[in-house]
Amino acid sequence: MASLLILNGPNLNLLGQREPGIYGSATLADVEAVAMEHAKSRGAEAVCFQANSEGTLVDALHAARGTHDGVAFNAGAYTHTSIALHDAIAGIDLPVVEVHISNVHAREAFRHHSQIARVCTGVICGFGMASYTLAIDALLGLIEAKK
Ligand code: DQA
Repeated sequence: MASLLILNGPNLNLLGQREPGIYGSATLADVEAVAMEHAKSRGAEAVCFQANSEGTLVDALHAARGTHDGVAFNAGAYTHTSIALHDAIAGIDLPVVEVHISNVHAREAFRHHSQIARVCTGVICGFGMASYTLAIDALLGLIEAKK
């Protein structure tokens, strides 16, 4: 059974309370429940983890090696700043899909550049909570095609 890591970065623990006009009313627990249920319905497993600090996210990416078959990663604001996360993704031999709830390209200019997109397999943004289920479908498609 394919195993996916659903990795969320800084401030995403505040989903549901944080800028609901942009991020919606679903909490992180809601997002994780939907992701786990969706993976299960596709015959796979989703394991969820959130951290606010960059180093913990680097550690989680390293730990995904040999444990998971792919990662759906919402790096939050570190998307736009973090070379460490770029290097961590580049250093693990796993498909990683960059995920955003909001359409970052329709927002402030500082959100238009991603430091991690270059080393991700693809990017999904702007679909609200569905960005995660779309990323799961994309990852499972890739994993299936590799078999
Ligand atoms: C986000 C977009 C980022 O620009 C922002 O810093 C976030 C959330 C999103 O899911 O839309 O924290 O990654």
